[in-house]
Amino acid sequence: MKIITIIGARPQIIKAAAISRAIRNNHADKIQEVIVHTGQHYDENMSKVFFEELQIPRPDYNLAVGSGSHGKQTAKMLDGIEEIIMKEKPQALLVYGDTNSTVAGGLAASKLHIPLVHIEAGLRSYNKAMPEEINRITCDHMSTLLFSPTSQGSENLAKEGFDLNNSAPYSIDNPKVYHCGDIMFDNSKHFSEISDVQSTLIKDLGLGNFILSTIHRNNNTDDPVRLNSIFKALLDIAQQNQQTIVLPLHPRTKKMMEVNLEKDLMEKVENSNLIKVIPPVSFLDVIALEKNASMVVTDSGGVQKEAFFFEKPCLILRSETEWVEIVENGNAIVVDADYDKIMSGHKELLSRSDLSYPPLYGDGKAAEFICNEILNHI
Ligand code: UD1
Ligand code: UDP
Repeated sequence: MKIITIIGARPQIIKAAAISRAIRNNHADKIQEVIVHTGQHYDENMSKVFFEELQIPRPDYNLAVGSGSHGKQTAKMLDGIEEIIMKEKPQALLVYGDTNSTVAGGLAASKLHIPLVHIEAGLRSYNKAMPEEINRITCDHMSTLLFSPTSQGSENLAKEGFDLNNSAPYSIDNPKVYHCGDIMFDNSKHFSEISDVQSTLIKDLGLGNFILSTIHRNNNTDDPVRLNSIFKALLDIAQQNQQTIVLPLHPRTKKMMEVNLEKDLMEKVENSNLIKVIPPVSFLDVIALEKNASMVVTDSGGVQKEAFFFEKPCLILRSETEWVEIVENGNAIVVDADYDKIMSGHKELLSRSDLSYPPLYGDGKAAEFICNEILNHI
């Protein structure tokens, strides 16, 4: 069976490692994976670094679309993916998550009647101002096989009219929803020990007790009020607790800090010996940071969940989250980009000493399950 896999943004490249590994280990004789990189992310530390350290096969195609407005970026991807589908004639096309690369893949496949496999299906923030929410909803409704990492994801799909008890044969008009666990839990488990052996970042940076923070959501970076509130709170948490905060900075945030951060705040951040701003790091290094941090403060979907995998409490710098389980279980607090909520959320998390981390994201074998179901039903 020939499958085209679409990747483009950092989290998708990392996710692809789990499925590529499952194919390589158990299905190499049955599944041929053709990898298409849209080029949505292109800096070395946002793309290339992951292929090498996570043993992801080199992409067969790179569309090199680069950055741009949503319309232009998605249109270029759609154009390129359509051409590749017509040439490669795959039996299915596989997409991850909720980025513009995901929706471009979904549109190209469904218009050409190629069954679409959506991994990380069913997640909803119920906030359509978020570009990812539009990408998720449309993609789910173009799919034939939908793999939801959480039970909440399947419930969300049921609310949108998906029949959770339908029978094969599956198609875009009779799609199958699976609740199968999270391939990023597979990856975090798989790479955890490898990170212990290979990552030297904690030592290199001389880190002791520290908080890990990542920020990149467009509504945080592009809104001066929100971005200033977040950085004011980070500085105050660092100063009041004399605690280091490590910030591997997404290129979008680096650019927008220069535009949107008040001058004196920018100077304080630059001159603070407690705020360590570093370039984006590799996955093995981010795992090391997540495992050794005392707390995580993030607006990233992936990082908030990995905080849970590595049993760290988390402040979510958004007004809502798709990963509602970790909030309901008390491991994370949604604090938006609100100075007061961030400060009080930080105190509240410090006081929660009895947190539990139940297996909400499967058993670390989601990728294997997905490969088997693709082979059974495509
Ligand atoms: C995208 C996804 C988002 C995901 C994030 C993961 C969409 C709509 N958004 O957001 O869901 O959480 O990736 O990181 O698809 N840039 C560089 N170098 C790069 C990549 C980006 O400098 O290699 C800069 C460019 O200025 C670009 C900006 O970052 O304009 C934003 O990049 P883009 O891919 O459009 O969106 P992200 O914010 O990365
Ligand atoms: N990540 C990484 N290096 C970094 C920051 C994040 O490898 O410097 C990883 C992180 O561990 C997670 C993924 O990138 O697996 C999340 O990507 P991102 O935060 O960019 O996007 P989101 O998950 O919000 O879509």
